[in-house]
Amino acid sequence: MDYKNLAKSVVIRYVNNKPVVAAYAQSLKPVGAGRSAFVFKIENTNKAIKVYLPEFWHIAKEEACIYDVIQQINYYPEIYESGPNYIVIDYIEGHTFFECLTLGIPIEEEKLIEVDHALSVTKKCGLNPSDIHLRNILITPDGEIKLIDVARFRQIKKCNQWEDLKSAYYRYYNRPFFPKKLPAFLLNIIALCYKNFNRKQSKRFSKNEINF
Ligand SMILES: Nc1ncnc2c1ncn2[C@@H]1O[C@H](COP(=O)(O)OP(=O)(O)O)[C@@H](O)[C@H]1O
Ligand SMILES: [Mg+2]
Repeated sequence: MDYKNLAKSVVIRYVNNKPVVAAYAQSLKPVGAGRSAFVFKIENTNKAIKVYLPEFWHIAKEEACIYDVIQQINYYPEIYESGPNYIVIDYIEGHTFFECLTLGIPIEEEKLIEVDHALSVTKKCGLNPSDIHLRNILITPDGEIKLIDVARFRQIKKCNQWEDLKSAYYRYYNRPFFPKKLPAFLLNIIALCYKNFNRKQSKRFSKNEINF
């Protein structure tokens, strides 16, 4: 298949500084968007193409290299091809943790234990799994865990997102009367507060580092 042309068919425009997809090939079906890319399922295949925004083109190569390292780990999609602004990986059927929360699909504790296992196997490959959050973890219809968005797995900096999510799970979600269905806007507000809090904290710490 001519993945290069499929990637080329994706036209990204900026409206009020926000990236939007203005056009894409008929054989593509949008399945998700992140901070760095738009993702499409390729018709009549079990593959997805991730097309990066112009300012994140450099990540395509990095993410492809990391997928190469973890190909033998079942928790990740297989990678088939990469180009300057895209990668082609397995399409994963199912729901992200984020979708589970908005749809009211319960997330059992065993799923978190499975993610922990996936991360420990990944670390054994010499990687530093980072950016593990609600939109990058999927549960398949068979109840399997799959992780996507591995671009930051070679960063040196410690990422606390997964540990913080786990704490929130046990502190709030796992409580009997805590609602298992939450509106997306509320989750997005919580994510924003979390990001701002962390940004402030890291600024404080970097100041401390200068002082010492
Ligand atoms: N292989 C895949 N199969 C199914 N859905 C996917 C796949 N890859 C990404 N997605 C969907 O697209 C969204 C954005 O993809 P992601 O790789 O996380 O992009 P970004 O690096 O910009 O965060 C994900 O949160 C998920 O909903
Ligand atoms: Mg992502």
